Amino acid sequence: MKEKVVIAHVSDVHVTSQYFSRELEKNVVNEVNRAKPDLLVVTGDLTNEGYLHEYREAQSFLDQFKVERMLVVLGNHDSRNAGYIIFEEIFGTRYPSVEVGPVKVVGVDSTEPDLDDGHVGRLAYRIIENELKDFSGVKVVALHHHLVPVPGTGRERNIPSDSGDFLKLLSDLNVHLILCGHKHVPWLWRLNGMLIINAGTATTLRLKAHTPPSFNLLTISRRQIVAERVNSETLERQQICSVHIEA
Ligand SMILES: [Fe+2]
Ligand SMILES: [Fe+2]
Repeated sequence: MKEKVVIAHVSDVHVTSQYFSRELEKNVVNEVNRAKPDLLVVTGDLTNEGYLHEYREAQSFLDQFKVERMLVVLGNHDSRNAGYIIFEEIFGTRYPSVEVGPVKVVGVDSTEPDLDDGHVGRLAYRIIENELKDFSGVKVVALHHHLVPVPGTGRERNIPSDSGDFLKLLSDLNVHLILCGHKHVPWLWRLNGMLIINAGTATTLRLKAHTPPSFNLLTISRRQIVAERVNSETLERQQICSVHIEA
């Protein structure tokens, strides 16, 4: 079994949006491919309005990545206009799960069609519980909406309405890492031993103040999670954490 796993965490791509940048797209694709990740995780908002032609564009975007495994979750923009139907046709499920080396990533749909607000829902809790309760490796959960407020994003909104209950579930399951997107501002919180990493927007100029577009590269072993944030414009890298995992 592979001992160290590299995960590229890309979010809020918004292909076809007026803020989408081909130059940033090229940078992200090249830099991710250079990192040779074992898994690409996309935490939603691949499209802008959930339309079929946008999903086709999103597929062309994803096809450029030289990765064996990919895990994609729905964003609020992808769920618009019944886009969740097309999402399921392309990606198979709104609750994907991938195991690679010592790591298991479970994806969660936190969207409510045609609303920007998030909601996970108790039925989904059972799916996540079944996926993770007996898993002894590094547990990762990926969803679109932020579970904890992100600074520098203005008035707080769209946090899943059941985020307190959901965070408790993840804490009870001893989840090590939560990957989110949505706010287009990268951030990191540590809560009850869980690392919560919010990705910025990877490929758009839909940015808050001076926040640059970015994505994350994570190196995970049974003992450690190291995360780097990569500026999609300058390709500058910054280590944002190196966390020891309790046995
Ligand atoms: Fe977004
Ligand atoms: Fe979003």
